[in-house]
Amino acid sequence: MLAQEFIRKKRDDAELAAEEIAEFVTGITDESVTDAQISAFAMAVFFNSLSSRETVALTLAMRDSGAVLEWQGIEKPIVDKHSTGGVGDNVSLMLAPIVAACGAGVPMISGRGLGHTGGTLDKMDSIPGYMSQPGNQLFRKVVDEVGCAIIGQTRDLAPADKRFYGVRDVTATVESIPLITASILSKKLAAGLGSLVLDVKFGSGAFMAAYEDAKDLATTLVRVANGAGTKTTALLTDMDQPLASAAGNAVEVRNAVEFLTGAHRDPRLEAVTLALAAEMLVVSGVESDPANAAAKSRAALEDGRAVEIFDRMVHALGGPSDFVSGYDRYLAKAPLVNPVLASRSGHVGSVETRSVGVAVVELGGGRRTRSDEIDHAVGITGLLPAGTRVEKGDPLCMVHARNEAEFEAARERIMVAYAIGDEAPEPAPSVADRITG
Ligand code: URA
Repeated sequence: MLAQEFIRKKRDDAELAAEEIAEFVTGITDESVTDAQISAFAMAVFFNSLSSRETVALTLAMRDSGAVLEWQGIEKPIVDKHSTGGVGDNVSLMLAPIVAACGAGVPMISGRGLGHTGGTLDKMDSIPGYMSQPGNQLFRKVVDEVGCAIIGQTRDLAPADKRFYGVRDVTATVESIPLITASILSKKLAAGLGSLVLDVKFGSGAFMAAYEDAKDLATTLVRVANGAGTKTTALLTDMDQPLASAAGNAVEVRNAVEFLTGAHRDPRLEAVTLALAAEMLVVSGVESDPANAAAKSRAALEDGRAVEIFDRMVHALGGPSDFVSGYDRYLAKAPLVNPVLASRSGHVGSVETRSVGVAVVELGGGRRTRSDEIDHAVGITGLLPAGTRVEKGDPLCMVHARNEAEFEAARERIMVAYAIGDEAPEPAPSVADRITG
């Protein structure tokens, strides 16, 4: 079929056949369709959407545009989590070892930071020696022997999505639920998972800020992933304030190690991590009863098995053999650590979380352009949760910066992001809903 006829069909809101979609995706991968044709198709979908059937077909075609991993021979249920991204969202670092400690295999293929949101891979790259791009053989060995491996996406997984997303990014066509769904799921399903849990965020720091939009996305993701043959559920979680009290790279790894050892646990982060862990155990069939799954996850955290697995994973992937006991020596530190002080007394009300993420990017902890190098040392710690009572002059957080000018820019953003009012806001639950197939 001619690409222009395929685009015309969607432009005129007709249903596309799975074979036509597969042919167009082949053209994306082998470059026989042009960027202009990809962009016209994306805009046609943006306005006319895709049915569930078409979205499943697009997801499977993009999944099959490259390698699909296989886990035969590993006698554990293979399960992963995908988050739509947030600020202070270091859940993956604790979740993978907790779930692995409970008996599942967790091949966690993570991304780099996108816009104002942090990326798990950038965080793991703060660990000296850690190989976030090991070959498939080492990846498999670590999942088999340790239980989990957090790595980056290899070039050969869903290459059609890489090109398609690049075109969408510069043609105002990212915000289409079927296209987002196919993009996210093609990469996850190429990892050959038995089951998947999605952490779909809503709130001021989320990619989909409005609750109803996030719920629509979660519902479509769950429907399409199950339609594509991977048992999947989703939790809708609150990103109306940073999840951890730290945002950045090395600072979030530090926060994760302290969470795993029990030295410090942010309550909302703990609630979301353990809810996702229990969900992964149920969806993967490790546990059938949600209450048992929750108890099992907590036990793996409290009795030290999860932290031990994290330490072994770091070492197996090239990091120090004593990372957990020596993290303070290994993680980079910024030269300047200054507080941002409350300008009045009251309660921390709403937190414009996106601005906190942008402050981290401007400090150098994220990328302004794709080719930017990350500064792993900078970031923010001690972020106060909504509802905290503060007196004028109390620290709202600590900024870890390269220099005074960058500290000042971050301070100004955080002052605007943190609204301090007379009344404490109603506490919001961290996990708002669960979406099943
Ligand atoms: N993340 C992705 O991987 N793809 C999208 O389309 C949007 C967010």
